[in-house]
Amino acid sequence: MSFANTKATVYNDKVVRQFAIMTVVWGVVGMLVGVIIAAQLTWPQLNLGIPWLSYGRLRPLHTNAVIFAFGGCGLFATAYYVVQRTCQVRLFSDTLAAFTFWGWQLVILSAAISLPLGLTTGKEYAELEWPIDILITLVWVAFAVVFFGTVGTRRVKHIYVANWFYGAFIIAVALLHLVNSAALPVGPLTSYSAYAGVQDAMVQWWYGHNAVGFFLTAGFLGMMYYFVPKQAGRPVYSYRLSIVHFWALIFTYMWAGPHHLHYTALPDWAQSLGMVFSLILLAPSWGGMINGIMTLSGAWHKLRDDPILRFLIVSLSFYGMSTFEGPMMSIKTVNALSHYTDWTVGHVHSGALGWVGLVTMGSMYYLIPRLFGRKQMFSVKAIELHFWIATIGIVIYIASMWIAGVMQGLMWRAVNADGTLTYTFVESVKATFPFYVLRLIGGAIYLVGMLIMLWNVIKTATAGRSVTVEIPAVAAHA
Ligand code: HEM
Ligand code: HEM
Repeated sequence: MSFANTKATVYNDKVVRQFAIMTVVWGVVGMLVGVIIAAQLTWPQLNLGIPWLSYGRLRPLHTNAVIFAFGGCGLFATAYYVVQRTCQVRLFSDTLAAFTFWGWQLVILSAAISLPLGLTTGKEYAELEWPIDILITLVWVAFAVVFFGTVGTRRVKHIYVANWFYGAFIIAVALLHLVNSAALPVGPLTSYSAYAGVQDAMVQWWYGHNAVGFFLTAGFLGMMYYFVPKQAGRPVYSYRLSIVHFWALIFTYMWAGPHHLHYTALPDWAQSLGMVFSLILLAPSWGGMINGIMTLSGAWHKLRDDPILRFLIVSLSFYGMSTFEGPMMSIKTVNALSHYTDWTVGHVHSGALGWVGLVTMGSMYYLIPRLFGRKQMFSVKAIELHFWIATIGIVIYIASMWIAGVMQGLMWRAVNADGTLTYTFVESVKATFPFYVLRLIGGAIYLVGMLIMLWNVIKTATAGRSVTVEIPAVAAHA
């Protein structure tokens, strides 16, 4: 048998291993930067007067590191693993898959250098300058070729629903990136947006909201549809619901962006349209959450002694919580109170720490032992500990931000009988201080959980060995 033929009988798990390890490494780095900026908001002296370490430069470093490095590597790892298992075929191209790994790490490294240097387009979650944007485009096209090429050469007739979600994530992110990053380069590291004024704002938040919908949600729903049934040892609760969930979610998300621009120069009708679609979005979001949680029906007892399943199921509860809160915050009268306050930051982190963080960690705990030929992680007790630490950290983080946010909103709108403001802005900052300390504590606890995970992963990887898994000779239905 030739070398090429031997390869064709096993899955390409090398690239999955690489992305899985980097998910954990970038998780630690991104969250550490999160803890640093949380400390800087509490004690601004921690900027240390050094421009590279100033809050304004580290904040985008945090968001890029957690979303694109931690979340992104988790999405690559699981998409590559899931598409091979559910299509029962090796990845379409090993060379392109390796290119996506090294290319994506180069994007992350470029971000880690350029953002502290202050090089930014100023567009939130799309801060990277045009040469890095071009590299992102190349990596993304390669990702699409590998993913859809694998689906196209599958040995199973059916395309499992997780692949629909991963596919939508890949296509939508390509579209968002190309449209929102359109710019005129005026120097090697400077550019001007192709849009101006309110159009620029609208394109940016069409991008921003769909970055939430497709980067932070659709891909992770792909994870949910594969890893929850696998870990629970049961089929998806309702396959029909998963298809309705898919089409309803991807159709609705695209229209909700204007809820980020309430009470701005954006035409009123567009704001109201965004609000209505955001309210509708509650239904597909909860449909998906219920489908995931109900997959456990008849096997609830497994939650008692399986910490990995607990990560996955609690992540879905946080998903449900943040997708209830989001539509409420999109109502214009509610947004009049919540906008510009820490309530938004609380909402973000209930989705980010609770949903994105926990579902990724649960999926990695499922994957990593299998990728290194071990029955389970080096320490199951450490997974258990991580679960409780992470959950406590999230609750402290988001509860402090909710209280701080509502308090800020109420203080800013309070007026005396003569029409003057009751509180100065500085008074609201002073009142927020204890909540910033609490958020810092919650965030630091969450980071400790991630460090425990890193230790457990290193132990598992070094105790095990890189294994190759054979593709079943006879294709079975996924
Ligand atoms: C140890 C964990 C973390 C800590 C301590 C932390 C802390 C922070 C802080 C202090 C901010 C700035 C808030 C502000 O501007 O007032 C922030 C923003 C943000 N973080 Fe985190 N974070 C953590 C983890 C994460 C994770 C895992 C994600 C995503 C998966 C994430 C996504 C974001 C986003 C999207 C923003 C921008 C929010 C906005 O513009 O409203 N964070 N984080
Ligand atoms: C039905 C689903 C959701 C809706 C309708 C929704 C709605 C909203 C609204 C109204 C805001 C505040 C906008 C403002 O006042 O500036 C917001 C902010 C945000 N949400 Fe959500 N949300 C949803 C789910 C989620 C989830 C699951 C996540 C995270 C995984 C998330 C991440 C964010 C982020 C990062 C921001 C801050 C954007 C910024 O200003 O930088 N959202 N969302």
